[in-house]
Amino acid sequence: MSRKYLIAGNWKMNLTPDDSAALVEEINAVVGTQTSVQVCVCPPFTSLPVVSDKVEQTEVHLGAQNMHAEPSGAYTGEISAEMLRSLYVSHVILGHSERRQYCGETNASINQKILAAIQANLKPIYCVGETLGEREAGKTMEIVSTQVREGLEGYPSSALDLLVIAYEPVWAIGTGKTATDEMAQEVHAGIRQVLTEMFGEADASSIRILYGGSMKPENAAGLLAQPDVDGGLIGGASLSAKPFCDIVEAAIAAE
Ligand code: PGA
Repeated sequence: MSRKYLIAGNWKMNLTPDDSAALVEEINAVVGTQTSVQVCVCPPFTSLPVVSDKVEQTEVHLGAQNMHAEPSGAYTGEISAEMLRSLYVSHVILGHSERRQYCGETNASINQKILAAIQANLKPIYCVGETLGEREAGKTMEIVSTQVREGLEGYPSSALDLLVIAYEPVWAIGTGKTATDEMAQEVHAGIRQVLTEMFGEADASSIRILYGGSMKPENAAGLLAQPDVDGGLIGGASLSAKPFCDIVEAAIAAE
């Protein structure tokens, strides 16, 4: 089963609309017309309109970093799936470890968001990953399996073409510490095994599993060469065009 690489940039709480417009223009100029790998940028909500305009005529996809599970209502400060769709957003990062850590998100609450996202035809990029303590206690696969199973509870097989998983070891996010190629492959293969148990082998083999956590041009090729690593979710290195586009180039070379 061939899975097209997806390289997604998670800009987190960075960049004004003007800064975002400048960055996406630079990205467009280098990788905006190629189609061998999928590229997605995930700016903060306030930059979605301007980035949406800038990517409209390109092959670059637009993602959000979060959304609310309810379609509308008295949820001050929140954004619905339909609001994202109205800006031509196609992807949404859900369950990022920073939201689990700082905003109290749980597998159960993220599950509600994932189901709401697919209802609106948004592609969830569902983040899972263990903390350093969990890894040191030998619990990595137990934690990650539970996140996959509980986060995808009730997920219909008919919508699996929308699903993207991102394995992001919490200890590797923004720390400069990357999982080795072998560590990443081991967990990615474990995730695919859980997906196989849930959805069957044919469907599981078509789901993309991205690696995230201090991915940069220097380590991208090795990670992307692993059989179950289908792309990257890039934080720090996505905030400038050069390293982000270099990672996209590494994915093109690995195709
Ligand atoms: P990082 O972030 O590349 O800066 O480690 C990745 C992420 O949090 O998605």
